Amino acid sequence: MVDSAWLTRALSMDRFFCSRCNLSYPISPTLWRCACGSPLDLLFQPKFSIKKIPKRAPTLWRYREAIPIHRDENILSLSEGFTPLEAMEFEGQRVFLKMDYLFPTGSFKDRGATVLVSKLKEMGIKKVVEDSSGNAGCAIAAYCARGGIECEIYVPESTTKGKLAQIEAYGAILKKVEGSREMTAEVTLKAALKTYYASHCWNPFFLHGTKTFAFEVWEQLDRRAPDTLILPLGHGTLFLGAYIGFKELKETGLTERIPKFVGIQSASCAPLYQAFREGKEEFSSTTKGETMAEGIAIAKPVRGNQILRAVRETGGEILAVPEGEIVAAMKAMGRRGHFIEPTSAATIAGLSQYLGKQARREIIVSTLTGTGLKSVGKMV
Ligand SMILES: Cc1ncc(COP(=O)(O)O)c(C=O)c1O
Ligand SMILES: [Zn+2]
Repeated sequence: MVDSAWLTRALSMDRFFCSRCNLSYPISPTLWRCACGSPLDLLFQPKFSIKKIPKRAPTLWRYREAIPIHRDENILSLSEGFTPLEAMEFEGQRVFLKMDYLFPTGSFKDRGATVLVSKLKEMGIKKVVEDSSGNAGCAIAAYCARGGIECEIYVPESTTKGKLAQIEAYGAILKKVEGSREMTAEVTLKAALKTYYASHCWNPFFLHGTKTFAFEVWEQLDRRAPDTLILPLGHGTLFLGAYIGFKELKETGLTERIPKFVGIQSASCAPLYQAFREGKEEFSSTTKGETMAEGIAIAKPVRGNQILRAVRETGGEILAVPEGEIVAAMKAMGRRGHFIEPTSAATIAGLSQYLGKQARREIIVSTLTGTGLKSVGKMV
């Protein structure tokens, strides 16, 4: 598929890097955070084979040289990605929605999981633990099944039943944890002392999968970046992935600008919205109210400060949507033929709020991140 000598040479230079204390480390199966406690980024030189990309299959692996996996035989794929970009009208304005609920496991998390779990295979890892509000657990479990990697998925007990059934269907060991999402993360950290932590929040290889969102949007808009992106903010894995993706497109000269990044939180759990509104560079964890948008109910996002930096750097903003608007957006999208889960509807509520504030003359891209089919229990 690619010039393997080039790829091996390029990827041998990959390293983990901490943007807080500037330390860098060789890639290692035991390392999942910096000595200072911060999440690590990946130093990686992407390449885009402009002539080859359009001739390749419509999956996210068409950007092969921009994805940090050494050898093709390690790729674990379920033919994911290159989701449709559909033009729709909201508040009298045309907006493009990326149909990321049409992934094999029903959410955008497959973007990150296909790359992260391929990397696990490349590193020879046989068993992993992961914690999730549900969809990331489904995605990691599916790709581990594909690669014959044993996995234990920790989720809050309250997680939607459809997601629990799906995780078990892939043969993963399901661990339900009493209490909050944060409690689930604490329990998982103990398990991660012994077993590889395949965390979608901590592991930068996940972001080097979600970044393909940017590449696809760029290609689908005739090789242009939009003006504005409106994306969900829980741990911000799509948000930061898209930011990395557009930065890579800019650094390789394929686009002149990085879009304005607008993040959407649930008003019931909005630590980043609060920090942004108060002009703070660092967020504080928040108390959480009830919300149907379980996927973005994250009181302490692992990469929260990185997200705040990306918002500021791109001239973006963070909005918070109340519960009533989330439910209304979910119903409205159903009437337009798209059955999405409440977390996914929160982004659309945010999109309407953004458009309602003033008339916009911008190319705007947003997304439907998760199918409604898993969440029927909570909806009824
Ligand atoms: C459907 C859906 N949309 C959005 C999100 C938010 O993603 P992130 O936590 O990476 O910001 C999630 C997270 O679980 C999700 O399941
Ligand atoms: Zn550090």
